[in-house]
This record gives sequence, C-alpha cells and structure tokens, in this order.
Amino acid sequence: MMCHRPVLLNEVVELLQPADKRVIVDCTLGLGGHAAALLQASCKDAQLVGMDADEGNVICAKKNLASFGGRVRFFHANFSHIQEVFAEVGLAGADAILADLGFCSNQMDDSARGLSFTNDGPLDMRLNRDSPRTAADLVNQMDEKELADLIYQFGEERLSRRIARAIVAARKTARIERTAELAEIITRAMPRRPGRRHDIHPATRTFQALRIAVNDELTSLDTLLGCLGDILMPGGRAAIISFHSLEDRRVKHAFADFAGTGQAKIITKKPVVPAREEIFSNPRSRSAKLRVIEKI
Ligand SMILES: C[S@@+](CC[C@H](N)C(=O)[O-])C[C@H]1O[C@@H](n2cnc3c(N)ncnc32)[C@H](O)[C@@H]1O
Repeated sequence: MMCHRPVLLNEVVELLQPADKRVIVDCTLGLGGHAAALLQASCKDAQLVGMDADEGNVICAKKNLASFGGRVRFFHANFSHIQEVFAEVGLAGADAILADLGFCSNQMDDSARGLSFTNDGPLDMRLNRDSPRTAADLVNQMDEKELADLIYQFGEERLSRRIARAIVAARKTARIERTAELAEIITRAMPRRPGRRHDIHPATRTFQALRIAVNDELTSLDTLLGCLGDILMPGGRAAIISFHSLEDRRVKHAFADFAGTGQAKIITKKPVVPAREEIFSNPRSRSAKLRVIEKI
C-alpha cells in the first residue's frame, strides 16, 4: 500500500483543538492520518466517526486506526450523507469536523482508477465503484458543447472548446478508453508555443473537470457546507482543506454566509497554506488551503 502524507497536519490539530472535543468527525478518512493525530491529541473518552466514499480506503483506515479500538466508528459513505450517518450513530452534533477534500496519494497512484494522465489506466475516475458513470462514459457520450462546458466550468480551462472538438473527432475512430490516450489527444489539441514552457501538464484541467463531474464533487461539498450549522455543536469547529479554487471559493462563501447569520465566527481570516518545508517534502500539498469556522 502506497502511503499518503496528511496535509497541514499540525495546523489541523492546532486549529480543531481536539483536546477539549468529545465527538470528532472525519468526513474524508482516507488512510486515517489526520484521524490518528486528532485521536492522539484528544482525551481518552473522545469518539471519532470517520467516513469515506472509497470502500478500499475505509478498510485501510480500519487497519491503521485499529489501536484506537472502539473509539472509532467507520462508515463507507459520501459526506453528502453526513446527516444520515449522524442519525445512524445517534449523534446530536459534532464538536470537530474535518474534510480533507480530493484524493489520497494511493488513489492517484493506482493506475486502475484512471485518475492520472502519467500512469496509463482505464478512464474510470470513480471514487465509489458503485457510481454509475465513468469518465469514459462522459468523454464518449456527451455532445461537443456539453463536453466543452463541463471542461470550462469544472476545469476552468480556457481552451475547452478546442479540447472538446479534438475529443469528438478522435472518438469517431474508436471509443476513448485509456487515460494516456485522452492525455495525448488533449496535448495534440493544444496550440504550440515554441520556447514557452507549460507550468502544468496540458491535460491537468480537463482531468480535474472529468473527476469533479464523475464524482459530483461540488454538489457533495455544497451539501456538507450547507448543513454545518445543523451538525456542529455550539463551540464546535469545522476545518476544510481544499485543493483548487472551485472548492476554496465555495468554502470561503459558505463560511462568510454562516458567520453572517451571527451564529458562527471565522477562525482563519485568510486560508492557512503549507509552509515551504511541507511543499518541498510533499509537493502534493502545494495547492492546499485550510479554512476553519467555529459555531458560537
Ligand atoms: C485527501 S484524502 C484524505 C486523507 C486523510 N485525511 C488522511 O490523512 O489519510 C481524501 C479522501 O476523501 C475521500 N473523499 C473524497 N470525496 C469524498 C466525499 N464526497 N465523501 C466521502 N469521502 C470522500 C477520498 O476517497 C479520499 O480517501
């Protein structure tokens, strides 16, 4: 199992203040790195409810958190169903909530998941294998305009029309089934600018867009943000780590709205970002932004 290094770990522990919290909820357990640190920093009778949309990661987290015994309850669930999970556990509310969005390194590095354009694999991208649509379904079935709009909205890709046109032309010959194939089609569709280096791979934004669409990521985030007022106990804190501007903007606005009701205060006036040393030792942390809010 490839390991995943929890991002902004000390900052999350410092800002969520687990020492005086009884009910901690990790919406994105992953391999349990943040959960273990939060449990270690909490008192012995604190409980952690952890969920993940990826069943494989719930199994890994169970193994990694075994030493905490009955203090942890595990759920294979999307955090958009957090209120159903609370009802199942009989929880009235949480004192600390963490959502570390996106994917773990083990998922990105697993070519069978089709999340990466550098490791060739099937064009899948589903977090939850029970979800109906894969990225290949979108790429091969959507019409050109829909595809261009999707790449523009979820990837913030200026060249979305050009890319959609190239995809539609390529799939006339054969269905596009592999990540490397799609990355190659996108790369060839990009204008050549001799002497100009790209800071990111030309397929980065399109892959982000497809991943967001396949997993309905922004709807899930909106649902979680929309119920924070109901699921946080007074004095409870929520910490969200996002990895791109579409997520961070949502978190920022939802927190401002919540604070605007007078029922919460924003703890992080500006997002907390990783220190240079963390980015150096874990380049995947470079786009992380942490925002924290407290219910009054
Ligand atoms: C960045 S990793 C979390 C890593 C974790 N904090 C750790 O320390 O190991 C994100 C995790 O969230 C899960 N995930 C992403 N979106 C989700 C959602 N809407 N509901 C539940 N889990 C989700 C992914 O499957 C992945 O395991």
